Order: sequence, then C-alpha cells, then structure tokens
Amino acid sequence: MKTVKLGALVSGRGSNLQAIIDNIENGTLSAELAVVISDQADAYALERARKHGLPAVHISAKGFKGKREEYDALLIKELSQRDVELVCLAGFMRIITPTLIKAFSNRILNIHPALLPAFPGLHVQKAALEHGVKFSGCTVHFVDKGMDTGPIIIQAVVPILDNDTEDSLSTRILRQEHKIYSRAIQLYAEGRLTIRGRHVAVSKGEQSADAFLINP
Ligand code: GRF
Repeated sequence: MKTVKLGALVSGRGSNLQAIIDNIENGTLSAELAVVISDQADAYALERARKHGLPAVHISAKGFKGKREEYDALLIKELSQRDVELVCLAGFMRIITPTLIKAFSNRILNIHPALLPAFPGLHVQKAALEHGVKFSGCTVHFVDKGMDTGPIIIQAVVPILDNDTEDSLSTRILRQEHKIYSRAIQLYAEGRLTIRGRHVAVSKGEQSADAFLINP
C-alpha cells in the first residue's frame, strides 16, 4: 500500500488532526504527516503534532494583510520542501488563494461541519438549528476556488435532536468528522478517487442502493 505524504494546515484545537494522527498510528490510514503548519503560534494543534514527534511549523500571517498570495507562497514553499502530496485543511481559518490551489491542484481536502452545499461558511451548526433542518452532518471535499464548493468525497449525516444546542450538535458532528476525514484520505491514498466535473467517483466502493435515513 502506497503511503501518502500529508501536510495539514490548522489554526486551532486540532481534533481532526488528532484523529488523523491516531489513525496513522493504529495502521488504518496509509499516510504520513510530513508537516503540520499553523498561522497561529498558540494553536493546540501544533502542540498535538509535537507530542507525536511530528514537524510543527508556525507561519505567522502578520504583515500579510492584503497579501494573501504572498502568504500562500510561504505555505507552498514549506509544503513542497517537505515533499507533501496531499494538503489537508483541518480547521485552517484562512481563505486560501488560487496560487495554493493551483500548486496543489486536486490535492487539497477540506472538512466542513455541515451537509454541503447547505450551510457553507462559518457558524454552520447554529445556522442549521435556526433553519430547522432535521439532519445535518459533515462533508469532506476537494478544495476549489469557491468557499466550500469543491467536489464532494464523503458525507456523514447526523440527525438533529429536539433539545440540541449548538454545542451538542457540534460535538455529535465532530465525532463523525473524525471518522470521515481519515476515510477520505485513505480513499485518496488507495488511488480510488476520480474527479469528473463536480462528481467524485469512488472505485470499487461498497454502497447499498437502498440506504436511507428518516428523522424523526
Ligand atoms: C471542524 O468543525 C471542521 O469541520 C471545521 O473546523 C473545525 C476544526 O476543528 N473546518 P478541529 O480544530 O479539527 O478540532
């Protein structure tokens, strides 16, 4: 099995990063974290990486206001030096520019805590609750130039419960995020993903034709 070299971009607590690290260590994910990069010096995600002996790099965004392309050029340099094949955005709170997207064309993944294309952007669990949807969930997708618009690889559906708060819903969604992000990376590592326009074909997938969910 081929091992894919990952570069993770993070800004905060890094629970998705942790799930990826754990799955690499327990042998269910054929990947290697070549580098974890944060725009925030105090991101707990960097700490998590260091605890596992992984390269953790802070690239400050100070002085790059209005110069996003220049900041992304630093990211590209670091990722390329480390021989990164696949970039995983894992709670990276910056909008990335076409420069980075071009440098890693169809090789950048993102995890989003809603069922895209519903609820793109920020504070999406709150938005889902306010809208009154019966299901939300999470999505792993390839990154394109839009905001949370790229071709979808995997989604997990999470029912919304009567007494849900933003916190309780976020926690249940996060549990699924931790599963599907590694799963999507594994599919990539196995060479099973083909992008056709907006669609991502998964070769030799095990799918049940009559799968469905009803809530309540
Ligand atoms: C997750 O909810 C992810 O979907 C979103 O940002 C959050 C990051 O959480 N993109 P963590 O840093 O992985 O714990």
